Amino acid sequence: MKIGRNDPCWCKSGLKYKKCHELFDEKLLEYRNKGFLVPDHSLIKTKEQIEGIRKSGEVNKAVLDYVAAHICPGMTTEEIDQMVYKKTTELGGIPAPLNFEGYPKSVCTSINEQVCHGIPSSDIVLKDGDIINVDCSTILNGYFSDSSRMFCIGNVNEEKKKLVEVAKESIRIGLNEVKPWKCLGDMGAAIHEFVKSHGYSVVREIGGHGIGLEFHEDPFVSYVSRRGEEMLMVPGLVFTIEPMINMGSEEIYIDESDGWGVYTEDGQPSAQWEVTVHVTDDGYEILAD
Ligand code: MF3
Ligand code: CO
Repeated sequence: MKIGRNDPCWCKSGLKYKKCHELFDEKLLEYRNKGFLVPDHSLIKTKEQIEGIRKSGEVNKAVLDYVAAHICPGMTTEEIDQMVYKKTTELGGIPAPLNFEGYPKSVCTSINEQVCHGIPSSDIVLKDGDIINVDCSTILNGYFSDSSRMFCIGNVNEEKKKLVEVAKESIRIGLNEVKPWKCLGDMGAAIHEFVKSHGYSVVREIGGHGIGLEFHEDPFVSYVSRRGEEMLMVPGLVFTIEPMINMGSEEIYIDESDGWGVYTEDGQPSAQWEVTVHVTDDGYEILAD
């Protein structure tokens, strides 16, 4: 069905189509005809939706700030889970992981050689020298946000500290590539090259995702992708950047006993930071970090 030029725009801005997304749609079509993977309108968030995701992201950030202020050696990951549940709900949100596809807790806590999706437990105690990823996701008024940070517990050795720093810096490197009408592959390739230059590897099977109205939306976001490939980034697209960086080989396995925990095959440490990012008219906006 074709929209008339004087009809209201599909993005619900209230403007006429010709004053709003008409040129945008023409450009999108040109790119599609050139063979690029372009997002469907359903993936392009309206102003109101962006505002909703932004507010959700503010809660997510506040929860991670709270964890940052309290995390310490001797604490169990169950206590982190309780902090996340308490803080998120106090702020009016719901922890998105809780009951997500049967996930039993409010947050993922992944220590050392654990890559991601670590289930908090009262049996897991943080000890001096550990590195841990705390991955929080919030639903607020139906809008989803997702971000994670690494924490160094007590005295962490230089090797692991550097892994954590490179993983953090890789997010910056990726964000530098987030501009409208560039491809997600430009971003993924930049991260991959940067990580490889430090002698580390990037997990292939698990990546980022579109987010906002659902926890995980299209597109899948890879960090081993190629320039000029993968989905076109256009204003209104919202997705996560969350590369998992392994000190050793990229190989991983899933813990069969709980069906969630992901570990490095070689037992070497892994680090990950995650941001939720919104592609704007001239670059990007971080909605959660
Ligand atoms: N926060 C994770 C992500 O980045 C979500 C893990 S799903 C869960 O996609 F159920 F394990 F929480
Ligand atoms: Co995510």
